[in-house]
Amino acid sequence: MGKTSVEYCQGFTLVTSVRSKNGKHLLTVENEQAVQFFESEEDKCWILTTHRTAYVLGLAANGRLQHRYWGERLPYPSDYPGMGKFKASHMLDDRMLSSDEYPAWGGFLYTEPCLKVTFADGVRNVVLVYSHQRQESGPEGLPVLVITLRDTYYPVEVDLHYKVVPQYDLIQRWAVIRNTGQTWLDLEAVLSAAWQLPTLHEGFYRLTHLSGRWNSETQVRRTVLSDGRKTLESRRGLTSAEANPFFAIDIQSPNGTGASEEAGQVWFGALGWSGNWKITVDHVSDPVRAYVAGGINDFDFRWRLKPGEKFVTPPFIGGYTAQGFGQASRNLHMYQLDYLLPRSHAQQLRQVLYNSWEAVFFDVTEEKQLQLVERAAQLGVELFVIDDGWFGQRHHDRAGLGDWYVNPEKFPRGLDPLIARVHERGMNFGIWAEPEMVNPDSDLYRAHPDWVYNFPHRSRSERRNQLMLNLAQPEVAAHIYTWLDNFLSEHRIDFIKWDFNRPISEPGWPDAPVEHHREVYVRHVQAFYDIVERLRSRHPTVVWEVCAGGGGRADLGALARFDQCWVSDNTDPFDRLKIQEGYSLAYAPKSMMAWVSNSPTSQHINNEALRLRYRFHSAMTGSLGLGEDLSKYTEEQMAEAAALVAEYKIIRHIVQEGLLYRLISPRASDLAAVQYVSRDQRESVVFVFLHAQHYWRAAPCIYPRGLDPTRHYHIEGSRDAATPMSGQSLMNVGLQPHLEGHFGSALIKLKMVDEQG
Ligand code: GLA
Repeated sequence: MGKTSVEYCQGFTLVTSVRSKNGKHLLTVENEQAVQFFESEEDKCWILTTHRTAYVLGLAANGRLQHRYWGERLPYPSDYPGMGKFKASHMLDDRMLSSDEYPAWGGFLYTEPCLKVTFADGVRNVVLVYSHQRQESGPEGLPVLVITLRDTYYPVEVDLHYKVVPQYDLIQRWAVIRNTGQTWLDLEAVLSAAWQLPTLHEGFYRLTHLSGRWNSETQVRRTVLSDGRKTLESRRGLTSAEANPFFAIDIQSPNGTGASEEAGQVWFGALGWSGNWKITVDHVSDPVRAYVAGGINDFDFRWRLKPGEKFVTPPFIGGYTAQGFGQASRNLHMYQLDYLLPRSHAQQLRQVLYNSWEAVFFDVTEEKQLQLVERAAQLGVELFVIDDGWFGQRHHDRAGLGDWYVNPEKFPRGLDPLIARVHERGMNFGIWAEPEMVNPDSDLYRAHPDWVYNFPHRSRSERRNQLMLNLAQPEVAAHIYTWLDNFLSEHRIDFIKWDFNRPISEPGWPDAPVEHHREVYVRHVQAFYDIVERLRSRHPTVVWEVCAGGGGRADLGALARFDQCWVSDNTDPFDRLKIQEGYSLAYAPKSMMAWVSNSPTSQHINNEALRLRYRFHSAMTGSLGLGEDLSKYTEEQMAEAAALVAEYKIIRHIVQEGLLYRLISPRASDLAAVQYVSRDQRESVVFVFLHAQHYWRAAPCIYPRGLDPTRHYHIEGSRDAATPMSGQSLMNVGLQPHLEGHFGSALIKLKMVDEQG
């Protein structure tokens, strides 16, 4: 393949024509932007270009859509595998691992299928070939490529969507399956996307993922991949604390080193789904190849698609960077801030909140709340939240869920006087709810025992004494929407914390036709999303927090609908550094709620010994909240806490909206450091934590990153000279934090010196 002219334009390759040496016209360029379509007599291919990466697709001779390249952006279209010069090596041998862009089960596919279908005549085999393509502009103005595949015989079509996010080197993918025939078909597996990785001739693929349990969510795990299949998943009906729908894959060299925070190739992705999900890596050797497929979990799943109906998968966002795990995270964070988090509050800073759960647990009374309101206001809190225990007969976790009326003994005057007082004290008012659940000991359950998931002749397993409402039933979803809509209409509520405190069990739906029974996992999430979306549009000023017994619903689907996320019930400030580090791999610090509190875990372990300052600093690395019994604070503690809240308000725009650099992992040693840099590089804050100081050793130097090397910065909070240092010097010579004793912490502030300054 030859080329007559190639130019660069606003970060995108601009190709005007492509001809062979003898002048024969080979390719037509239809779009000169982020999505380029090339068509010749022999081939069709697409190059999706971001600022630093490219993603290439093409057609095989048999009409199948194949993946050709995902990695560093190359200078010329003809540089990409399959674009004339050479073939992608992984296309040479397709026997062990499919290089289909969207592998459907049929033929010789033995690895993870994205699509598995049973047709009405019993045939269980899909053969997808290219049909047509179109390009459109998404609501945010981002380019979207839609490639339609069709089965060679049966009336089913698949629209593969690619939304390109050029500035953050990301591609969001999802699929739409359409039944274009006259009879039903059953979907047995329908994933969002498969991400093909390049063939490795040396080294190993290494998988980084997030897993854990209640009180220990989003722990960073790393494992070298070998032959076979590794599956990350939830079958619990929610995203889960046990596994989080995020992956990152780097290359471990034969000498054992891999990508670091700042360097090395990383392919990564995160799913936007808050129910049963699955991310699978299929891996073969000799040479090493792998692909990552993900989407809704096909375990116990089946979906009856009737004539004319379509099924839309959740989005799976993926990216590539050569700048290590840190850049992968920053790309995901910036995408969330600029595009994903609900637009109504995306531009606003998260308020400092106080939540009274750990102060009173179920012993909620107007009197006690009023005391806490006064204390919270004195500290500079901006949002006062009552948690569980305000409704029905909710004196403990054995009763009341489902009965969403204000408890008259706890609030004899109703909620409004308390809400009014909170507003008078200059704060917003928030409240907790767990709408998808019911206690058997509740009026709701007594009236509607058939509203919960259940199998006849089986017991209904309880967890935390509660059962899960079946939101697949339209009347149940309508009931939840109506009570919340009325509640928000009747009271001046500014914030809802939406909780979910048990996994699914006995997922039966006895009243529905049998062919729909296995749809419940998906229908539940669809109804949950629908309720929140409709409430958001009816009550646009309300801020929403997602919670599931801690961080059980931390995912991009929830973050597209909720402004912030409760990441763990564990508020021990030391444990939190690790939980928060893992969360930050995928999710933006602005969405990460962190409290200064006395959680049961921290009380019993080391909280008493820890300084208030350390506890605040740990929580100030995300969106700050307070959660302890403020009536127990001494006057000195009140003053110190108020000063720390005030300090947080000064720096929070850098933490919540800046670029995150994980300088030293809390998993690595006694030292941990995390830095935030404003997008214009004018301001930065560095939090440093020293957990054990041995042998009177001075605290080591910290090397900030992401600064403008040529500009000078004022330094506040370090031992270094008060004179400004250049960004280059700060990043190379480093800073010495003030740190003394075990569990010490420091906050260093850097501010660019004005030209004339
Ligand atoms: C869950 C949440 C907590 C709190 C309690 C209330 O555990 O994660 O923050 O709201 O429920 O019951």
